[in-house]
Amino acid sequence: MCGIVGYIGKREAAPILLSGLKRLEYRGYDSAGMVIVNGSLQLMKDKGRIEDVDSAHGLRDMKGKMGIAHTRWATHGEPSTENAHPHVDCTGDIAIVHNGIIENYNTLKELLESEGHEMKSGTDSEILAHLIEKFYCDDLAAAVRKSLLQVQGTYGIAVVHRKESKIVVARNGSPLIVGVKGDEMFTASDASAILEHTKKMIYLDDKEMGILEKGKVTIKNLRDEKVNKCHEEIGWDLEQIEKGGYKHFMLKEIFEQPDSLKNTMRGRLGKNVKLSINGSVENCRRVILVACGTSWHSALIGRYLIEGIAKVPTEVDYASEFRYRDPLVSKDDLVVFISQSGETADTLAALKEAKKRGAKTLGIVNVVGSTIAREAEMGIYTHAGPEIGVASTKAFTSQLVALVLLAMDLKVKKGGKIDEKLARELNRIPEKIDAVLEEERKVKAIARKVAGHPNFLYLGRGINYPVALEGALKLKEISYIHAEGYPAAEMKHGPIALIDENMPVVFIANRGRGYEKIISNMEEVKARQGKIIAIATEGDEEIKRLADWVIHVPRTIDDLTPLINVIPLQLLAYYVADMKCYDVDKPRNLAKSVTVE
Ligand code: F6R
Repeated sequence: MCGIVGYIGKREAAPILLSGLKRLEYRGYDSAGMVIVNGSLQLMKDKGRIEDVDSAHGLRDMKGKMGIAHTRWATHGEPSTENAHPHVDCTGDIAIVHNGIIENYNTLKELLESEGHEMKSGTDSEILAHLIEKFYCDDLAAAVRKSLLQVQGTYGIAVVHRKESKIVVARNGSPLIVGVKGDEMFTASDASAILEHTKKMIYLDDKEMGILEKGKVTIKNLRDEKVNKCHEEIGWDLEQIEKGGYKHFMLKEIFEQPDSLKNTMRGRLGKNVKLSINGSVENCRRVILVACGTSWHSALIGRYLIEGIAKVPTEVDYASEFRYRDPLVSKDDLVVFISQSGETADTLAALKEAKKRGAKTLGIVNVVGSTIAREAEMGIYTHAGPEIGVASTKAFTSQLVALVLLAMDLKVKKGGKIDEKLARELNRIPEKIDAVLEEERKVKAIARKVAGHPNFLYLGRGINYPVALEGALKLKEISYIHAEGYPAAEMKHGPIALIDENMPVVFIANRGRGYEKIISNMEEVKARQGKIIAIATEGDEEIKRLADWVIHVPRTIDDLTPLINVIPLQLLAYYVADMKCYDVDKPRNLAKSVTVE
């Protein structure tokens, strides 16, 4: 949550900061601000999206070759001008931007106020500016270091002082990277913000600081010792993070799935599965899949895959529940953390907890170099490419492919044979998704018919029950329509009371395991005048007897149906939200990377 960007170099800083902020808007977008250092601190900030703040206050016209900027997702204090970052100290010489949560903020606030500091905002972040002021004695880096020793909580920060030509950055639990291009230094919460300038990134670890000066960057720990760090070259390019002619990133990302899945599989699926997973996973007695949100839906599907293919008992947990429930895990467990961003606070904390308890840990992560990717002992990058739309789409299907590969690999490592039919069929999934994407216009027409309904129900069975959950989540998060996902058989135990002619019910009804049962559930809905949208296997014309609308998808083996079924559900959510003229890529109250608990 919240995006930070900073620059020091030979060019005007404001346009660089502004374009960086726009790329970080997915991290939060309720207020924005910038400070440029040019003999004095020029500060501009306000409530609203970056472009509105820019047009109201002329951010781009601020002059100077060094500055920091911020886009906010409110945690402490409502979105307002006062609460927007940067925050300044009492003297007006120091400015900070912060991502994270200062947990001992009340204690520090009381202390600073008793010493005469005056807070202007309701945020936890502002106390950092005053704390640095308290310790400042002509050395910004030293003052930041001393302040951070007083702070409990998470932070990614960038700090400037009117009199010093440097940006001091630090991280603990919230991502922050440094970009290097000759004499120019950049900092950002995420590489996408500065990728147009450089691919050379230095990833700060927790409790590390960076001192950025023109032509020089020094990394230190909080004990003031120098840390030797090399830059890493990032593989993504700018084109991958632009919209490429699509109206929204979400639509682009839905359509990228045939390619993103090929990238997830590339080099990993031949006569054998090639994953660089060592760590004697063959000895694990149990797999636990841990994640949040859409990634948790992948985990639910992963349980069917790992138990079905590798025959290893598998459990699934919400990261937020796992970390706080004193989980009984040991060295015999393989705990798998699934995350697009690799920065989700609860997932990261759960990973640390599992490591502490001696379990083997593995990350299934999209963002290369992210904290979860680096903290887990073993990893599978999903290689879906940058996902900018806040609602996750291509990251989800790539996670599913990674889980199929993991299940196949575990089976082989435990002495089984590779399932050649499954491998062949997995290779065909991208072209089958292409075929589903051709149904786009049909899905759009259905969206037009149903967009006015205030409630939806999504039903699926077995491995497609989590797909129902995911379809409902996609609809509610971007169209603000109330939607529930259920295992189809559970409908009669309560939700059936909701069914009437105003309730669209989306059924995932492929031929195969459980088909007859789902047809019975459809009969039950039909008998109560519910409106049925069915995702059905190509050639299934009978289903039209029950369904008001049918979206046909290609046939595949049961284990792989989620990969195909979710596509029309993503499109349905997208078109309903777009028809309502909502900002699909930046739904209200949400942020792409949830780095707070
Ligand atoms: C929904 C969505 C969220 C994320 C969740 C976990 O479309 O994007 O539910 O899936 O916040 O994020 P990651 O996967 O980055 O850990």
